[in-house]
Amino acid sequence: MYPQDFIQQKASGKKITLITAYDAVFSALIEAAGIEAILVGDSLANTASGFSNTLPITMDQMIYHTQCVRRGAPKAFIIGDMPFMSYQSDIVTALQNAGRFLKEAGAQAVKIEVGDSGLDTVKAFHDAGIPVMGHIGFTPQSVYQLGGYKVQGKTKETQDNLLNLAIQLEKAGCFSIVLEMVPAELAKTISEALTIPTIGIGAGPFCDGQVLVLSDVLGLSQKSSPKFSKAYMQVANQAVSALQSFKSEVENQHFPTQSHSF
Ligand code: KIV
Repeated sequence: MYPQDFIQQKASGKKITLITAYDAVFSALIEAAGIEAILVGDSLANTASGFSNTLPITMDQMIYHTQCVRRGAPKAFIIGDMPFMSYQSDIVTALQNAGRFLKEAGAQAVKIEVGDSGLDTVKAFHDAGIPVMGHIGFTPQSVYQLGGYKVQGKTKETQDNLLNLAIQLEKAGCFSIVLEMVPAELAKTISEALTIPTIGIGAGPFCDGQVLVLSDVLGLSQKSSPKFSKAYMQVANQAVSALQSFKSEVENQHFPTQSHSF
């Protein structure tokens, strides 16, 4: 898969499926499921590293996890999520960090959370041959500035701003845009205004594709998930029950048996 395939898929009307992964175990399962595109999201800060938001994760940690995902899914189109402060300070630093995802980690593209001030960065990535996905609406790296986890684009003014930003991002060279936590009707308007696909998360059914966080899809955590996500199974409860069985069998000397012994 290439960035152009995203655009062709939108043109053909086939919805795009994207999912996050952080390691080789799950990226192999994602590839086995026939999902062709994987986002190594900085959500790994929450889902895998135990932080309460995405801000603490570093470039080196993102590179390590992207390498793991690539080893598990050799054929997937992998997008590396640029962590907080790896692209905001200046364009040279941003280019160097974006380049690391492609040179060191086996990603084919990067994603950045972007406002008007990020348009030059998108253009610089595009000019350097680095495919870039924009991320607008609720942008988790700005959680403090946005005053918490809130739906964006509820007023006419913010809706116009987001529509205009999406159009500018397409012009600057994005091959796709993530729309997070915006009203479904706004996502529809933005999707219809663009040639590049929108990938929604909490943005309703009218986007050109959908992305979800792997741990939400599989129910990997016993904590509650956001309203917009869907758990297709509940691994966490089954895992706790399996671990309780292991403990009980060890304590009762039911494991190991002769069949597990040499
Ligand atoms: O980090 C992430 O998982 C993301 C998705 C929510 C789009 O940015």
